[in-house]
Amino acid sequence: MKRRLVFLGPPGAGKGTQAFIISNKYSLPRIATGDILREAIANNSKLGLEAKRFMDAGLLVPDEIVNQLLKERLHGEKNGFIVDGYPRTIEQAHFLDSATKIDMVLYFDAPEDILVRRIINRRICPVCNAVYNLTESPPLRDEKCDRDGAQLVHRTDDVEEVARIRIRTFWEKTARLVDYYFERGILAKIAADRPMERVTQEIVEAINAD
Ligand code: AP5
Repeated sequence: MKRRLVFLGPPGAGKGTQAFIISNKYSLPRIATGDILREAIANNSKLGLEAKRFMDAGLLVPDEIVNQLLKERLHGEKNGFIVDGYPRTIEQAHFLDSATKIDMVLYFDAPEDILVRRIINRRICPVCNAVYNLTESPPLRDEKCDRDGAQLVHRTDDVEEVARIRIRTFWEKTARLVDYYFERGILAKIAADRPMERVTQEIVEAINAD
């Protein structure tokens, strides 16, 4: 089975949701740069404050900040990992190449109207990072996490205007990585507009294929 994985795709495609499932299923640590940056913001760190203005605007945080964060988390993960939301630029992809070997990149593909609908209905648990959706996968009790009862939050960048900028940023800066990894023969395209269980099944088949 391929164990050093990258989940690549536009915002709202379901990378985080599937990373959570696959990480639990195969005991692979999940390294999500968006979560790491939000933690830095919640801790009021200097780096977090610097990153926040880019994130609130729907833009990418500068490579040198994200690369450093990635390197700290990746360090010591010898038995596999899921990197979720990184790389997003060619510079980040080169940095990742210099840090480790990747077995497979899963590209989550879905149309923009589905992405926007998913993003604006997303709610997150601030304690365990579980992801819900008010229309697709709502919590059992009114906006409280099923696992720990914490009040779910609506990300500040999950409003429609910013969501559309984030999707545009993906096409401008990140989409070229699809070709980059395809040419290296390690890209698997996932039809991410289908129900969650189907998407999970497709990922499991891809990472277990010879
Ligand atoms: P980040 O937190 O990584 O956000 P993102 O890439 O914009 O991705 P999302 O979290 O929006 O989407 P997702 O694909 O994980 O979808 P999810 O599974 O939650 O980054 C935020 C910001 O941080 C960036 O804008 C940037 O500023 C900065 N940043 C982060 N990494 C960076 C980097 N490497 N370089 C520079 N800057 C960086 O699903 C979405 C919703 O849909 C959920 O509600 C879920 O329940 C639902 N859903 C999921 N799958 C399905 C399905 N199959 N059917 C129905 N509903 C579904």
